[in-house]
Amino acid sequence: MARVLAIPDTQYPFAHRDHLNFLKEVNKYYGKFDHIVHLGDEVDFHALGNWDHDPDGYSAGDELKAALKDMHKLYEMFPKVMVCTSNHTARPFRKAFTSGIPKAFLRDYHEFLEAPKGWEWREYWEVDGVRYEHGEGFSGMTAAKKSAIGNMQSTVIGHIHSHAGILYWANEASLLYGFNCGCLIDRHKYAFAYGKKMKDKPILGCGVIEDGIPTFIPMILNKRNRWIGKIIIPHVKIK
Ligand SMILES: [Fe+2]
Ligand SMILES: [Fe+2]
Repeated sequence: MARVLAIPDTQYPFAHRDHLNFLKEVNKYYGKFDHIVHLGDEVDFHALGNWDHDPDGYSAGDELKAALKDMHKLYEMFPKVMVCTSNHTARPFRKAFTSGIPKAFLRDYHEFLEAPKGWEWREYWEVDGVRYEHGEGFSGMTAAKKSAIGNMQSTVIGHIHSHAGILYWANEASLLYGFNCGCLIDRHKYAFAYGKKMKDKPILGCGVIEDGIPTFIPMILNKRNRWIGKIIIPHVKIK
């Protein structure tokens, strides 16, 4: 069975400045991952959203340029990644659709994100019977659990920035879990101004799924909004 790293929403170019160092540290601790999954919203495309575009923010073109700079750093660190399609990364397609532009005029994710060969986009992925998907369809702190029950399969999601963790569910026949991996964003960036007055704030971290068993690794920040520089991992040896 496999060891999987699940990277949640990076929303480039609005990711937390320390997130790559955090992922590097997780990678170093585990030594090797058999699969890397990006749970989606790898880019934000704030300027292409349905809500008001910050007039002091990037233009759509400049935002893509800035996001690509960040994507290339991630490509370098992880040349082979299974990516889940997601609402933010799909924004250019949505815009094209509502403007009546047929698919034949559009480039695919791989091309416009300048991705290396090893990056592949799919609606969902499956490893060791566990399903990885972006997480649209449910909201709130039980979204991952509801997704798992809906799929009748343990499910790992991102998408819901302000909740993270694992909830199990069982009936007489099966035991499932829903795992929300949080996000890796910087909530102080203008793209997240919508969350300023919300009491629930983003939870940063990533997921490790070893032999199908999930662990949430929190990226703990100090009062100055910087990563504390070390990871804290509950270590459980399975006999
Ligand atoms: Fe997101
Ligand atoms: Fe999302």
